[in-house]
Amino acid sequence: MFLLSLGFCQPAGHLSRVETEQARDLIRQHGCGSCHVVPDMPAPQGNTGPSLADQGRKAYVAGVLPNTPTMLAAFIHDPKRMNPPTAMPDLGVTTTNAQLIAAYLLDRGGAP
Ligand code: HEC
Repeated sequence: MFLLSLGFCQPAGHLSRVETEQARDLIRQHGCGSCHVVPDMPAPQGNTGPSLADQGRKAYVAGVLPNTPTMLAAFIHDPKRMNPPTAMPDLGVTTTNAQLIAAYLLDRGGAP
């Protein structure tokens, strides 16, 4: 938990190796790759949803929310609450896990 909060408060490029591996495990467990290209992860790399390879460079999450760590995590945790018409399903990601996944996407998602 200490590691998580430390990483989450720091700018992109500063997630620890442990946090990075934890985030990848969560992304695998929740099957994000079945619908998304996820940065620095092997297949599956689905295309039902937008690519997350450049998530760190987007101005908006789902076109409607400012792309901050807090908003990105809130969307991953409960997409329909943050953007009711979204096609992104609620995958039951806890708040804490969503924060770690969001931090990973902002950390790694810098592809142009
Ligand atoms: C069943 C397919 C599906 C799965 C599984 C899925 N998503 Fe999505 N996701 C979508 C779709 C479709 C959208 C586009 C909807 C929108 O923009 O409102 C989306 C949008 C997003 C966005 C916004 C992207 C942008 O361009 O702003 C993020 C971030 C995201 N998903 C993350 C995740 C994460 C993290 C997981 C795993 C926990 C996940 N998604 C699992 C279908 C999926």
